[in-house]
Amino acid sequence: MTVDLRSDTVTKPTPQMRAAMADAEVGDDVYGEDPELNTLEAEVAALLGKQAGLFVPSGTLGNQLGLRLLAQPGQEIVCDVMAHIARAELGAAAAFSGITFRTWHSARGVTTHEDVAAIIAPNAGPYLVSTAAIALENTHNFGGGTLQDPVEVAKIVDLARANGLALHLDGARLWNAHVATGTPLAELAEPFDTVSVCLSKGLGAPVGSVLVSTREKIAEARVWRKRYGAGMRQAGILAAAGRYAIKHHVERLADDHVRAARLAEGLGADPDAAPTNIVGLNVEDAARVAAAAAEQGVLVSALGPRFLRLVTHLDVDDAGIERAIAVLRPLMATA
Ligand SMILES: Cc1ncc(COP(=O)(O)O)c(C=O)c1O
Repeated sequence: MTVDLRSDTVTKPTPQMRAAMADAEVGDDVYGEDPELNTLEAEVAALLGKQAGLFVPSGTLGNQLGLRLLAQPGQEIVCDVMAHIARAELGAAAAFSGITFRTWHSARGVTTHEDVAAIIAPNAGPYLVSTAAIALENTHNFGGGTLQDPVEVAKIVDLARANGLALHLDGARLWNAHVATGTPLAELAEPFDTVSVCLSKGLGAPVGSVLVSTREKIAEARVWRKRYGAGMRQAGILAAAGRYAIKHHVERLADDHVRAARLAEGLGADPDAAPTNIVGLNVEDAARVAAAAAEQGVLVSALGPRFLRLVTHLDVDDAGIERAIAVLRPLMATA
């Protein structure tokens, strides 16, 4: 059987999740009449300590609506150079919202207030691009599932407030940060004006993310969502999967974290290489290792010429981890 460690997005809905989807009471969400969806949005907003939520089909759209709310065309948002919003959303902020980015380099995406302080330019006048917002990512995907340091986040929040800047959080895997640190979701989300969380990564739902913010901002995001063509009708079927995932698949993320640590250890990596469910490995020839492993039924992502990413999730068990170690270890030794 294939062991697919390319991403935590590859999971299939469980039979119980499918049953919840089949049972969902639905309506037309463009009219605001889908009860399951309305409940999901309210539940996620409450979990994250915000006034309102908006269901969107992807993490990318959750982020993009958040950024859209916090910056005007011609302004900039600052973020880490490896942030998903800057690197992997295909220029959406520029293409749709006229927003530019400037970025800092930080070790594995874990940002310090010095990183941010060095580049912000609030109210930059008629010569420079004005910074409108600071965006962080927790956990950090391309950093290898790293956790933002709460002490630094607090200092970044102070910096934002002192300079009149807004804050966006790409919390695609905020659930993992919550489980890894024991910090309540609402506390992790508290300082941010807009937060996007994904249901279709570690939580295992087939589709969907939720953007949370104030009631006013979410009303505005609802208009932009429709304008972008992502108004949905009987999407309660999808919301039911999300609600099931939140109820049953959050605490079990701890198992994914243990398995990622075992993977890192089994492959001779630094134990810090896997703080949550992502293992980042440096190898001589990432594409060659990924291709050779795939021939033996172990799928991993070559995200750079020398960088492999392995992600644990709902559909990989202990036996799969041991199989991946057995296949990858000799390949890494010769890569
Ligand atoms: C940190 C982060 N943010 C946002 C996204 C975008 O999610 P989606 O693929 O649902 O657009 C991803 C996807 O992997 C991600 O890892």
